[in-house]
Amino acid sequence: MEFNPEKFIEEISPQLKEIVDGKAIAAVSGGVDSTTASVLSYKILGEKIIPIMIDTGFLRENEANNVKNMLKDIMPLQIIDESERFISGLEGLSDAEEKRKKFRQLFYDTLSRLVKEYNAKYLIQGTIAADWVETQGGIKTQHNVLVQLGIDTEKEWGFKVVEPLADLYKDEVRALARYLGLPKEIYNRQPFPGPGLLVRTVGKLTREKLELVRRATAIVERNLSNLNLSQYFAVIFESDAEYNEKLSSEVGCKVKIYKSLATGVKGDVRAYGNVAGLECSKDYESLREIMEKITKYNITHVVVKVKDKDPNGVYTVGIRAVITQDFMTADFAKIDWDLLEKIADEINIQKIKEIVYDITTKPPATIEYE
Ligand code: XMP
Repeated sequence: MEFNPEKFIEEISPQLKEIVDGKAIAAVSGGVDSTTASVLSYKILGEKIIPIMIDTGFLRENEANNVKNMLKDIMPLQIIDESERFISGLEGLSDAEEKRKKFRQLFYDTLSRLVKEYNAKYLIQGTIAADWVETQGGIKTQHNVLVQLGIDTEKEWGFKVVEPLADLYKDEVRALARYLGLPKEIYNRQPFPGPGLLVRTVGKLTREKLELVRRATAIVERNLSNLNLSQYFAVIFESDAEYNEKLSSEVGCKVKIYKSLATGVKGDVRAYGNVAGLECSKDYESLREIMEKITKYNITHVVVKVKDKDPNGVYTVGIRAVITQDFMTADFAKIDWDLLEKIADEINIQKIKEIVYDITTKPPATIEYE
């Protein structure tokens, strides 16, 4: 059935008014879901809602200020800088799930403190259907899924969680955002994970990798923003890899296996496997066949070399661009190689050894790397 935002608001307004009988903190991450949940609640409940954005240190360049500006005529957003606390709490961790779980703990410890400071009782979150479906399925720990996992937030953190968008999928959230009169920059905004650049700094979190991926992200976003892609971004991981003879002869081109691990989803369950790097044909349909073959092994993401960069570099920057309706499955975008090379030219950052392009569908990869 076609989603009807007017009807949705009509049904949710009395429910929200009944549930939220005191002040509520509305946490905005900068993504479309949490922004829409906050604006919806603010429109329905007004001053009871305190919209905040935590600067976790894993936001994109100027992100907190950009979001604040985009919303300035809609609701007053306060930015709380917690970057040092988050980065130092996560520095040195490598395992994808461990990073997500630690992030979640830091996130809710912060919110718990803020709820007390503002004398609030509730937390409004932008959790949507895909988040809890995937978390319950064990694919990954979304930092914002609590109630569905049986976590008693009142006991643990002293607030009740309210999730007005919990039954909606992404395209419905966008329709709702548009209906609420949010600017195009928001309802068309590509999704951005709550843990942000943390999950794009693949493997061990270091301040250096984080700063490099932040810079690469800005370049990738600037170049791909006009292509109508569902999501596009940069990731960074260590370039250490080993040439794999067996796979190379099986698929007829040079295959190396990076030491870095990334998440995938195979047969509806979570996978955590290696990233494979190809140096071969640039024909997308042949690449797709190779990707399908080698992801039968313990490989979750397949990337193709775009360009070598700093010969003394130690990091690989991956460009990821996907097309999807519901974010539960996705295809890689067939970006012009000329454009990819132009982006690679612009990513002129010391320590970056090579630029690669991700050609994995979801499944077997996830859209993000962790
Ligand atoms: P995956 O990587 O699971 O991503 O294929 C599916 C969509 O969800 C986004 N994503 C997140 N969104 N909190 C969020 O709000 C998260 O922790 C999170 N992890 C992934 C991802 O960017 C993609 O759009």
